Amino acid sequence: MTTTATAHGCPVDDSFDPLAPAFLADPYAVMSELPLTGTPVFYAPSIDYYVITRYADIEAVFRDPAAYSAAVAQAPLVPLVAEAQRILLAGGHKPAPSMVSLDEPEHARLRKPAARAFSMKRVTAMIPTIEATTKRLLDQVGDATEFDLVTALAFPLPASIVFWMMGVPEQDFARLKYWCGYRAALSWGRPAPEDQVEIATTIAAYRAYLRDLVDVKANEPGDDLTSDLIAIHDEDPERLRLDEISSILFSLSFAGHETTTGLIGNTVRRLLEDPARWADIVRQPGLIPAAVEESLRYDPSVPVWRRVTTRPVTLGGRADPGWRQAVPLAGRGRPGRRRVRPAR
Ligand code: HEM
Repeated sequence: MTTTATAHGCPVDDSFDPLAPAFLADPYAVMSELPLTGTPVFYAPSIDYYVITRYADIEAVFRDPAAYSAAVAQAPLVPLVAEAQRILLAGGHKPAPSMVSLDEPEHARLRKPAARAFSMKRVTAMIPTIEATTKRLLDQVGDATEFDLVTALAFPLPASIVFWMMGVPEQDFARLKYWCGYRAALSWGRPAPEDQVEIATTIAAYRAYLRDLVDVKANEPGDDLTSDLIAIHDEDPERLRLDEISSILFSLSFAGHETTTGLIGNTVRRLLEDPARWADIVRQPGLIPAAVEESLRYDPSVPVWRRVTTRPVTLGGRADPGWRQAVPLAGRGRPGRRRVRPAR
């Protein structure tokens, strides 16, 4: 490990790599051992981003979208080969492909109808299906005293629910789950050039599937979120175009899926780490909402996020005309009021 400084004096940590196996296994253990722990901001050559670690700085970044654009939120971390770029563009995967990487006013154009369709009524109506799916998946585990929670429950449950909510036929669930894995590799991995073309081809197929789904639902509406979005389009086709609906579905099908798999896994892991915590929850199921909230803070499924600066900024008390990018590390935020156990 060596630490130096950028031309503008910002510390450099060339041991920090959020894709290293040790970081993926336990980001907090790695962060606490970094030589620059406690440094508000450092540059990480492994990803060519500046990293900020303090809650106040992270909050300032997220609260200032004019200075910190979302455009890089899903951008590949490695340069893509020309063939992969060509396939992605031809398949409708543009540089700012979805809600999460758009800034205002384009963001609101997608966000408003998505929020309207993702109504409390629709979410509440999903509860019986979520409960029945959970029961079915746990019944399959039977009396096993040891089983892989992610394979049995944490992965299939959110994926099935989000695809079902979108109106995807059940026989296509496995295909979509498979495609979503490629999407993670594109945005949050370091795919080798020879793998990039396969990833790009898969993403193009995934986008084409969602465009077809919108066409199918436009002809035969059902009781699903896609049909609700098409109804909003029908009210005023200029306010929400059909291709924008497939973009919203692209966002939802991934965002509502891997995040929740991670949350279920992290929550159960943190509860089982301390038998007393697990016993408390079993004895008092009323503690479950607080346990979920605390897991989101203590061990979130999205511990790292990205923004790109639109102009020179001062961050962590440091003005650096060389900034272009920053990765907020959002894990272990401020403790909420409801806690199951004090954080370590
Ligand atoms: C543990 C669960 C979840 C976590 C930790 C999580 C985390 C995140 C994060 C960090 C962002 C980026 C926010 C930003 O750029 O400002 C995001 C955006 C988003 N998430 Fe989630 N999410 C979760 C569950 C879900 C679920 C269940 C859905 C939908 C069914 C969903 C849909 C979305 C959408 C559509 C966006 C883009 C919103 C926008 O740009 O306006 N997420 N999520």
